[in-house]
Order: sequence, then structure tokens, then C-alpha cells
Amino acid sequence: MNFPGVDRAPFYPAQFKGFTQPVAGHKIIMIKKLATSFLALGICVTTVGPVWAAGDATAGSKKTRMCQGCHGIEGFRTAYPEVYSVPRLGGQQAGYIVAALKAYKAGDRQHPSMRAIAGTLSEQDMADLAAYYSSGPK
Ligand code: HEC
Repeated sequence: MNFPGVDRAPFYPAQFKGFTQPVAGHKIIMIKKLATSFLALGICVTTVGPVWAAGDATAGSKKTRMCQGCHGIEGFRTAYPEVYSVPRLGGQQAGYIVAALKAYKAGDRQHPSMRAIAGTLSEQDMADLAAYYSSGPK
């Protein structure tokens, strides 16, 4: 006697295969999509990071100790340029200050002491210092 199920049995693996493959494939696609999302998120955070990091003048004011000796002592503006023959930083454009510091660090600007100093600064330090100095005459 033929059981209907026995007759159909050979189809089960085929059906199973038919179901699982797309499902497995779908899962892989989902994982790939998820991974892409996280990657995209990571890129966003990395890209946006420096923008958030851009210049905190208060933080910058605490990092000027090694600059003021040459670029002028806070509150003693007459200390330069007469006494110190260095460029005035107070009131300078933030973008210009950052670009100059990066150029010293990279060696595109040659001044030895500024190269040494810029070499110790992180991008955050540069942004903070630039925000501080650009905020007015110092
Ligand atoms: C040892 C003295 C000295 C110290 C300390 C010093 N600087 Fe300078 N800085 C100079 C001199 C000199 C120049 C001009 C160099 C040149 O001709 O390229 C200069 C140039 C610069 C410039 C370019 C200005 C322009 O108009 O092109 C920036 C920006 C700057 N310094 C920022 C800083 C910051 C920020 C600090 C502290 C982290 C600092 N400096 C510490 C001596 C100093």
C-alpha cells in the first residue's frame, strides 16, 4: 500500500533545499548589510569626529603655556613683536593657524623651533589653540 507521504518523501529534501538556500543566502545578505551599515557608521563618526573636535578655545587657553614664551605673554601684549620677533597669533584666523601648525609638523614649513613644537601637538591641540588665538588679540 502506498502511503501518500512515502510517495512525496523524495520531494522533501528538494523542498528543504529550495527553502534553506535562499534563507541562508538572505541571512548572509543581511549580515553583509549590517556590516556595511556599521562600516558606514564608523566612517561617518571618523569623518565627523574632527568637526566635533574643532577648536575649543577654553581647552586651547590651557595649552598655550609653551607658546606664550615666544608669541607673547597673556596680558603683556607689548612683549612682542618688539621683544620677540615672532608672528602675532591673537586674532589670526583659526584655519590659518591650524594650517601653519600642520605645515610645521609636516616639515612643509621649516622653522626649527616651530617644527619641534608643532610636532608635539595633536590635531585636537592645534584646533583648540587655533580657536583660542583666533578668538581675539592675545
Ligand atoms: C621658541 C619660540 C616659539 C615657541 C615656543 C612657539 N613659537 Fe610659534 N613661532 C615662532 C617663530 C619664530 C615663528 C615664525 C617662524 C617662521 O618664520 O616660519 C612662529 C610661527 C608660528 C605660527 C605661524 C604664524 C604665521 O603668521 O605664519 C604659528 C601658527 C605658531 N607659531 C603657533 C605656535 C603655537 C600654537 C605655539 C605653542 C604650541 C608656538 N607657536 C610656540 C616661535 C615660537
